[in-house]
Amino acid sequence: MSRSAHPAGPRHADVLPEGHYSAPPTDLNALDPKVWARTVRRDERGVATVGGLGVDALAEEFGTPAYFLDETDFRARCRAWAEAFGKDADVFYAGKAFLSRAIVRWLKEEGLNLDVCSGGELSTALSAGMPAERIAFHGNNKSEDEIRRAVEAGVGRIVLDSFQEIVRVAHIAQSLGKRQRVQIRVTVGVEAHTHEFIATAHEDQKFGIALAGGQAAEAVRRALTLDGLELIGIHSHIGSQIFDMAGFEVSARRVVQLLAEVRDEHGVELPEIDLGGGLGIAYTSEDDPREPHEIAKALSEIVTRECEAAGLRTPRISVEPGRAIVGPTAFTLYRVGTVKPLEGLRTYVSVDGGMSDNIRTALYDAEYSVSLVSRTSEAEPMLSRVVGKHCESGDIVVRDAFLPSDLAPGDLIAVPATGAYCRSMASNYNHALRPPVVAVSDGEARVIVRRETEEDLLRLDVG
Ligand code: LLP
Repeated sequence: MSRSAHPAGPRHADVLPEGHYSAPPTDLNALDPKVWARTVRRDERGVATVGGLGVDALAEEFGTPAYFLDETDFRARCRAWAEAFGKDADVFYAGKAFLSRAIVRWLKEEGLNLDVCSGGELSTALSAGMPAERIAFHGNNKSEDEIRRAVEAGVGRIVLDSFQEIVRVAHIAQSLGKRQRVQIRVTVGVEAHTHEFIATAHEDQKFGIALAGGQAAEAVRRALTLDGLELIGIHSHIGSQIFDMAGFEVSARRVVQLLAEVRDEHGVELPEIDLGGGLGIAYTSEDDPREPHEIAKALSEIVTRECEAAGLRTPRISVEPGRAIVGPTAFTLYRVGTVKPLEGLRTYVSVDGGMSDNIRTALYDAEYSVSLVSRTSEAEPMLSRVVGKHCESGDIVVRDAFLPSDLAPGDLIAVPATGAYCRSMASNYNHALRPPVVAVSDGEARVIVRRETEEDLLRLDVG
């Protein structure tokens, strides 16, 4: 993740500290389309716009901090994934990245399926009319109540994560007189090149059943004997924010090997494999993500080749991108409150949000970009750290970035690529009010998740 520690070119201090930053960008006013949502640009005044609406007017109407989500971009990304994978594969949007009823409706309209991982996500999906058969239900410790609701609703698949759950789901399905379609989640033993907390295919972690030691084969054996279950395939998710396809290649190969073993032992060819999500996006201009069509081509070639080698019919493939669909489509808009230059170090820019609306920097050391968006500036770049208003020195939104040195209280700055895992992981730390999500499209903006109010907080506090 680290970048070269060295700045060249104009700067605000004589000595610049070590840090994760590269040279200041040549044009601080440029909004790199790699990291900004598709319809973001600057108008003739120099104000950034999304869907044709200026961020100054948006801040006026909806307040700050707020997430602005480019609906046009979201829908275009859904279509790109659906088209890339075609009719012989299924794309499940991973709702954990960000879910709301508007999102569910867009997914439904654009032909995507939905992966949920809690009763709350399941209710959101069903309440917005996602057909149950297009829902996959995940989780390493689904409660009996959650399982019952999912089976009753008729979800398309439940992804089984442990030996106990195999029995639990079978029992519940049988008691409801149903046969539930299931997949078994396996851990394939791949080290994904990503942060430890978001890598999930190595064996020493809580998800899935290991291929190693024949455990996954044993899980298949048990699932095949239970009347309440219809085993439709094997699932593997290797981690998140991954750029290198090599991990998926190993994962697909090992999953296909298991399919071959199952065929040899039981005479059954499981019809589906799910390779999970985890495809990386650009948080800064230095990240180079793959396009959906490249990913689809790579995955289908690997699976087809491995199946041919094993003499298996090619199974139906599914994938579960969350971040790669919603991540790039939103930015967080903040208003600058204070600007505090620390001589020889950097300038601390405090905004009206922080770790309560973006915990990823503190939790994963994630890197983000940031730009002044309420105007352009020709001032020199200043090495900055964007921090929030919480009582914690780790309350950092953007660790190292260059902003113009005439930045002042009242300016609007925005952090791009915050569509995934920011609102969904937001908290009320220090009784912060979680920001709204505002969808913008073709000159119209509407709130899809409203801002929390102090009444919301007090309503939960029953005294
Ligand atoms: N499928 C399964 C089974 C998953 O566990 C996940 C993510 C996904 C799909 C979607 O992964 P994506 O395409 O969004 O990377 N909070 C962390 C990410 C945790 C991801 C957990 N599972 C972050 O902010 O980076």
